[in-house]
Amino acid sequence: MLTKNSRIKEIYANPIGRDIINRVLLQMKISKKAINNPIIGNLKIKDLPKLLKNRLDDEFIDVLLNLSNTEKEIVRADEGPIKKAWWKEAVFYQIYPRSFKDSNGDGIGDLQGIISKLDYIKKLGIDAIWLSPIYDSPNDDNGYDIRDYKKIMDEFGTMEDFDQLLDEVHNRGMGLIMDLVVNHTSDEHQWYQRAISEPDSKYGDYYIFKDQPNNWTSIFGGSAWNYVEERNQYALHLFSKKQMDLNWENENLRAEIHDMIRWWLEKGVDGFRLDVINYISKSHGIPDGSESIGKVMGLYGMEHYFYGPNLHRYLRELKEKVFMPYNAFTVGETPGIGMEMSKLLTAEDRNELDMVFSFDHLETPGHYKFDDYRYDLNYLKKYMIDLMENYGNCCHPSLFFENHDNPRMISKINPDPQYRNVLGKLLAVILLTLRGTPFIYQGQELGMINQDFKTIEDLRDVESLNLYRELTKSMDKDKAFKKVLAGSRDHARTPMQWEDQEYAGFSTGKPWIMMDHDYKNCNVDAQLNDEDSILNFYQKLIALRKEHNVIPYGDVIFTNKMVKNLFTYYRKDENEILYVEINLSPNKKKRAKLPEGERLLSNYEVISLSHLQPYEASIWKIK
Ligand code: GLC
Ligand code: CA
Repeated sequence: MLTKNSRIKEIYANPIGRDIINRVLLQMKISKKAINNPIIGNLKIKDLPKLLKNRLDDEFIDVLLNLSNTEKEIVRADEGPIKKAWWKEAVFYQIYPRSFKDSNGDGIGDLQGIISKLDYIKKLGIDAIWLSPIYDSPNDDNGYDIRDYKKIMDEFGTMEDFDQLLDEVHNRGMGLIMDLVVNHTSDEHQWYQRAISEPDSKYGDYYIFKDQPNNWTSIFGGSAWNYVEERNQYALHLFSKKQMDLNWENENLRAEIHDMIRWWLEKGVDGFRLDVINYISKSHGIPDGSESIGKVMGLYGMEHYFYGPNLHRYLRELKEKVFMPYNAFTVGETPGIGMEMSKLLTAEDRNELDMVFSFDHLETPGHYKFDDYRYDLNYLKKYMIDLMENYGNCCHPSLFFENHDNPRMISKINPDPQYRNVLGKLLAVILLTLRGTPFIYQGQELGMINQDFKTIEDLRDVESLNLYRELTKSMDKDKAFKKVLAGSRDHARTPMQWEDQEYAGFSTGKPWIMMDHDYKNCNVDAQLNDEDSILNFYQKLIALRKEHNVIPYGDVIFTNKMVKNLFTYYRKDENEILYVEINLSPNKKKRAKLPEGERLLSNYEVISLSHLQPYEASIWKIK
């Protein structure tokens, strides 16, 4: 049992303690090496606030100790050979159905639209598709608020369309994973409807009700509680007011969820991406969140659910009862989880998840999603080195920079149009040559960038709109809009750019969300016909990845670790050695010496013997 008198190094030896301390050090821009200093490591944890000049308080230490004490297990250090699996070799492609391809001109993407583009995806070299939610939903959060798990959203098509989609995906030798949203349902789901109209039925306890709200706040702004008149109680929603959190402590509820998942597996889907799956277990009794953490994070209560007491138990139950019998693949979306926690959720012998998405690399230290700042790729380098060197062989990392919840990466790093092409390819090289399973988000393969939204009326996302409403209470409208724009999820949700014609070949009708004129230059059609396009580069790179088994399974050996703006590594196994050389800056970078071997792929046709070009990224086969 860790206590206030435990030493800092003892807390650091606990996986949760380590992740939380690392997070704090990162935000405070203090090197992790500080902990290895015996003088610091031997201090008592209660002295940490003083040491950090009271940037932390005693309440924080209590939370740290409580959380650390919930985790009794550690991941075995397995440096044995990596076990092979299809999903470790696969390249995934994420489709956001609303914005991918519209087949009937109503301005909303749909399943037939996706079917019509499967050949495109196949040709890109994709092995498996992750489909964002397509279930029946009132669309308060674009399908992440499910009304009926066994029905297809009318706007997207019918169950016949889905069955056809699954067949056609399989016929092309690809896999399909579904988005599984089981932390919450829509308030229009019949379980919730019955929970409030028949509180004494079995549904009465399917959600989280309390007589009095506590201080938790919602990730989409405001209190996390809705007053429910019918029950004279409050119901919890960590996300929008229409996304009600399910009560996983209820065994019947868990069994219903298991049945529902089996129903999809029976159809033959290959696995799932599990939405905010680390939030499903909440601290018993739903206690108040810490004031000091709430203030720092701008979110109250998260320490009570981001790594809840029964999380491992619920995940194992899911795996054993549902996923294992079907050999289904799972990747969990796990915001806020650090590296040690990720290992505990995915290590092979622990039978929980196959992989997780963590998000520590999407913002540089000291920055939050809605800050307008330039992302420094040197941080990505540091993050990847840590991940590759310390994740171990019994865990497998996911690799991604974009999804439907984040602005476009090129815009974040350097919006100067002269670098768009090389930067898009540089990101592709990092994504596809490290060890881990790459996920490409629709449009990333074209180098799509943030949209030129002009006013708040152009935005659609509930998170952006809530934030704007909140901000304009205390700040002028232009400033608020600018802040919302910096992090708005809508940047990633504008229609896929297929052709240079009205509405970009996405639809014949007006799309549900605006699009600017970028599609005129940046679209699939144009890029397929341009040898130098980002799309062609992705295609070649994915093909290259398939030819070299060293990429999914070989060692990663970094060089020039301390050299700013230079990211270099070898990929090595018994058969071959690849060398990747990347200039992380828009300036020329002096090169030590030219690698001896053959240049397989590069974002520059002509390279210089003495310098790396701005954002140059090249892959070599070493003799
Ligand atoms: C996940 C989804 C996001 C959604 C949220 C609530 O973070 O990726 O789009 O809003 O969960 O379901
Ligand atoms: Ca449509």
